[in-house]
Amino acid sequence: MPIVVDEETKIFTINTKNSTYQMQADSYGFLLHLYYGARTDGYMAYLVTYADRSGMCGCPYDVHDRTYSLDVLPQEYPFQGAGDMRSPLLVVRDDHGAFGCDLRYRDYEIRPGKYDLPGLPAVYSEDESDGAETLVIRLADERVGITVELLYGVLPEIDIITRAAIIKNEGTGVVTVDRAQTACLDFVHGEYDVISFYGRHAMERTPDRHHVGHGTFSVGSRRGMSSNQYSPVMVLCDERATESTGRAWGMNFVYSGGFEAEVTCEQYNQTRMQMGLSDDRFSYPLAPGEQLVAPEVIMTYSNAGIERVSQNFHRCIRKHVCRGTWRDRPRPVLLNSWEAFYFDFTGESLVRLAEQAASLGIEMLVMDDGWFSTRRDDFRALGDWTVNEGKLGGTLKDLVDRVNALGLKFGIWVEPEMVSEDSELYREHPDWVLAVPGKGPVLGRDQLVLDLSREEVRDNLYAQLCAVLDQANIEYVKWDYNRSIVDTYSRASNDQGKVLYDYMLGLYDLLERLVQRYPRILFEGCSAGGGRFDAGMLYYTPQIWTSDNTDAINRLTIQYGTSFGFPASAMGAHVSACPNEVNGRETPITTRGIVAMQGGGFGYELDLLKLPERACEHIRNQVKRYHEVEDLVREGLFFRLSSPLTDAVCAWEYVAEDGSRAVVSAVLLSVNGYGVANYVVPRGLTPGALYRNLDTGVVYPADALMDAGFPLPVGLHANAAVMYRFERVDA
Ligand code: GLA
Repeated sequence: MPIVVDEETKIFTINTKNSTYQMQADSYGFLLHLYYGARTDGYMAYLVTYADRSGMCGCPYDVHDRTYSLDVLPQEYPFQGAGDMRSPLLVVRDDHGAFGCDLRYRDYEIRPGKYDLPGLPAVYSEDESDGAETLVIRLADERVGITVELLYGVLPEIDIITRAAIIKNEGTGVVTVDRAQTACLDFVHGEYDVISFYGRHAMERTPDRHHVGHGTFSVGSRRGMSSNQYSPVMVLCDERATESTGRAWGMNFVYSGGFEAEVTCEQYNQTRMQMGLSDDRFSYPLAPGEQLVAPEVIMTYSNAGIERVSQNFHRCIRKHVCRGTWRDRPRPVLLNSWEAFYFDFTGESLVRLAEQAASLGIEMLVMDDGWFSTRRDDFRALGDWTVNEGKLGGTLKDLVDRVNALGLKFGIWVEPEMVSEDSELYREHPDWVLAVPGKGPVLGRDQLVLDLSREEVRDNLYAQLCAVLDQANIEYVKWDYNRSIVDTYSRASNDQGKVLYDYMLGLYDLLERLVQRYPRILFEGCSAGGGRFDAGMLYYTPQIWTSDNTDAINRLTIQYGTSFGFPASAMGAHVSACPNEVNGRETPITTRGIVAMQGGGFGYELDLLKLPERACEHIRNQVKRYHEVEDLVREGLFFRLSSPLTDAVCAWEYVAEDGSRAVVSAVLLSVNGYGVANYVVPRGLTPGALYRNLDTGVVYPADALMDAGFPLPVGLHANAAVMYRFERVDA
């Protein structure tokens, strides 16, 4: 049983295969955090020290015992109002507007299986073999009239512990929640580094590692989306931790809207890491009987370096967040029309493209933006999801049938959350957008955001989308979202502090209805490239377009950063034309292929009709090669062997869970003069075994490979790439 409760001491322990998490409801009824680290059977209360640290400004909780101050004790769910002056998870106001609460332990419950969350995406356990359990700890404040259910889910085999919280108003007056973060980890000592992921449009998720000094380091999003700028993933590690050594803790937010992730080192050199909803434009009144769910945070611990944190996240997201028919199936190699044609296509040109794609072994054509209503540029028609039959030269069904007849599946692009001012939908329902009365709206990509917190808006979109999807054999939908939410006023809401959160609930509701109705459709998320790459979206869309930047060299950094929190199976990655449209760089087509094959959503995004026959032949072979490795890309253990930010070679590896096969890919980033040999050192192979490189025929002892590595061919040019398949030579 992963969850163990000592009734007498009220110590709650959650065990996974390699980790232990422990907390205690103490004699005051406060819930202290004791430990999150290597698996142990010990009681870890000894880690907490009590001394008079109250000075003049401290807040001893008990006047008779100055050694007890919540300002310094490690907390499980810190809230404003009990003397912890560090960053809280919860801030509430009572019916009179007074800040603060005083939450004490009430009771607990253990449930079989993993909890789910009303209206929000969450990790799920598939069946009993997962060994999943749920611990619910209830805290209550009688005066304010709230209870908080702290939810802990455990997937013991993959070292995952999840947290969420449900704040309930069980009193008689209105309670306003001004801050509702989900999870924190308090460390009573240690020197740490924090790794966060920053970026921008077309350059998402560059890892950034800092030493945690005094004060607060914080990243987040105030954009109404998880954002291109910061990722809702954070890793804390020992200051000397490497990919394969040292301790590391990861948090990964299962939410697609605004967030905040922070790390604070405080007065006694203690460290708090925390994650949850952003406070920005958030102030959520709860009437008696109402509740608010603080979205889930996935947590994991490793004492074998940072890569183990990533691998645990990967296993969790692949099998316990992603759902549906496509979760475990090879995804079709696709050709997307965007970088091939942008808005400038016809039904005929798409069929021509599909013919060429079919001859190269590509399996699906995706018709990107521009197929509906009067859409021919950024300025119009979002919201009017009616097929432009004039442009397509017939019905959607005609086109899809023609593409299907070539042996290709057909996919389509939509951006349902948006509306253009120049659209029928906006002319009919100008009040359906998020806009502040009397203030000119701030446009983003010339579009406005529809108010998805309103059911009638969602119903309209659902009906419009179903009408399109029912017309033809559509097997893939790219769900885009191309701006931030600036104006935050819903005409239907009784309180504007609820709107950003309710918007997300609305989005999830709409997506849920669609994935339920169309279980065969493969949904791919997208948001100005990779602006909503988060575990919340992955609950509905098992893959996400990683970035609008398709340059192979920039993609190394983007995909490297993405891999800290997310599995390769989730990354949409395409080969595009050269010079690259973002940065003008020329890279060999082999390199573009090998880099795009890093993702499980592999495809092409260029005008195949403009390619010389030699390049076409290359693509034909590339597609075949992808099929040889795609199961490892989708399901293998992923290793970042070296970094595109600091190393001359960027190398990565997938190893089958049983160690029988591996794929190692490498891109040479820097070449200085003639003759320098570069080595790659794989990891994760079966010790004592022999491995054959299927592409060169050379056989290596695994231990030597993992110690000294193997050389890449000498004389490779800068930006050249290789991909090698290894197979264990079983006796
Ligand atoms: C966004 C996406 C692109 C493409 C365009 C279409 O920028 O990231 O891939 O779909 O929209 O307008």
